[in-house]
Amino acid sequence: MRMRRKKHLEERTDRLRDYIILEKPLSVYRLKEHERYDIINPVEVFGNDNPVYLELGCGKGSFLAESALRNPDKNYFGVEVVPNVVVAAAEKAAELKLRNVRFLSTGAQLLHYILPESSVSGIYLNFSSPFPKKQYANSRLTYWRFLEKYRFVLKSGGWIKLKTDNVGFFDYSLESLQDNGFDIVFKTYDLYAGDVTDNIQTEYEKKFLKKDLKICALTAIMKN
Ligand SMILES: C[S@@+](CC[C@H](N)C(=O)[O-])C[C@H]1O[C@@H](n2cnc3c(N)ncnc32)[C@H](O)[C@@H]1O
Repeated sequence: MRMRRKKHLEERTDRLRDYIILEKPLSVYRLKEHERYDIINPVEVFGNDNPVYLELGCGKGSFLAESALRNPDKNYFGVEVVPNVVVAAAEKAAELKLRNVRFLSTGAQLLHYILPESSVSGIYLNFSSPFPKKQYANSRLTYWRFLEKYRFVLKSGGWIKLKTDNVGFFDYSLESLQDNGFDIVFKTYDLYAGDVTDNIQTEYEKKFLKKDLKICALTAIMKN
């Protein structure tokens, strides 16, 4: 049964080669030092040098699909560690025939190997897994080691936009970003109390709004 499910996943992934351009396991450590970096060149992938944005932990990709539809002059990579979730995201993009979005089926911890230095204009962290237990703090996508990697791929003036329903994760992220080379230029503990005209709701955001939960949001800009 497990084998059949795996084969089914492989077949779906194979059909989406144009969209899922990098797959797990990416054994960077088996590559020679000089082969480990710049695995993907966004200009070659998209055929233009439009600005590049990432969603880390993109889930089933509805935020990315809507962002790509609204902004044909911007390019998007979805990074997602769970293979069958990334397949669902790529199927959505393929259905919509989007040419400005691609998926990397891998963990955000490998970003600095995959993408060139200073190649990304902005990073979305939408409802990242909060990992509330202290012993798993190093898996939070705003842990300092992740922020180092984001600093590597972000261009000067690049930003991170984060949304979450989890106040503990939000406070942790505010502190971690400020301690690790980012200025907070916007923050709210209740996004929908203000003007939200250009907000794109994610899958998780819709779920949390239905439960009447408040949405925290921030924008952080990388210091030079
Ligand atoms: C709560 S879901 C949010 C999905 C989507 N962003 C949304 O807002 O609807 C978090 C996602 O992050 C993914 N994730 C967790 N850690 C990750 C990592 N290190 N790299 C890439 N994806 C990760 C999980 O597999 C999951 O799909």
